[in-house]
Amino acid sequence: MSILVGLFDSGLGGLTVLRQIHATYPHSRCLFLGDTARVPYGQRSVEEIRTIAAEVVHWLKGQGVGVLVMACNTSNALALDVAVAEAGVPVVGLIDSVAAQLQSDRVGVLATPATAASGAYRRTIQASRPLAKVVEVGCPAFVPHIEAGDLDAPALRAAATQAVAPLLEANVDTVVLGCTHYPMLRPLLQELLPEGVMLIDPAEAAVQRLGPLLASLGDSPEADLGGDAVFPTDVRSRLCVTGCALDFAAAATPWLGHCPSVQQVDLRSTERAF
Ligand code: DGL
Repeated sequence: MSILVGLFDSGLGGLTVLRQIHATYPHSRCLFLGDTARVPYGQRSVEEIRTIAAEVVHWLKGQGVGVLVMACNTSNALALDVAVAEAGVPVVGLIDSVAAQLQSDRVGVLATPATAASGAYRRTIQASRPLAKVVEVGCPAFVPHIEAGDLDAPALRAAATQAVAPLLEANVDTVVLGCTHYPMLRPLLQELLPEGVMLIDPAEAAVQRLGPLLASLGDSPEADLGGDAVFPTDVRSRLCVTGCALDFAAAATPWLGHCPSVQQVDLRSTERAF
């Protein structure tokens, strides 16, 4: 039995998690939903974020996912309980996964305004490291620039310089990329931070948890569906969006290394996409 792994984000950011899953488990089967009609999530109210999470997870459940990986920190921070209740299948979180692995007491977190305001990273990290100093910074400009493919914009660089300032002041030695879009800014952030500051992508810790979980659920993906292609998205996985499929395919191409096929879906429909 091959278990379908469900994951969702507001847009391109979730692909950093999907990439990680495929790199670690080349035979996994995933269903990715990019809620591009409603991107960005990070400036929305708590109520909106929770309502959206319930709708999206309900749709993924209807598609037959057997495990849900949170590929959106904002939903993870503000609606994990909603996702767990709605999914009815095991849910792998980003925030608790990375917090369990952190080895530092001087931690910076770059995140969406909603995630930063929630204090979810600070609370979760301090639950296991009570002495940790955690500085959370909301970065409203990052996601719109990334979604627009605008990574060289001077305004993005200025926003990043401003975002890292409180982290430099707090002398952090570890910075968590607390939004799944932000691994796409790794070179810029690394350049703005002193050498030796470690940038951490929570997806790595979350994806490490996925393998044992799938095995415990009896997952045994057939090996005859596409061999070991480097990123066999179209064979093993399906990409769906709520906005324009062609735009998403074009924007996703640099991150996936090929132009994926993408399907636009209506979250109210129960029709199977996979
Ligand atoms: N990539 C998401 C996150 O990890 C959401 C970003 C957004 O839509 O604001 O928080």
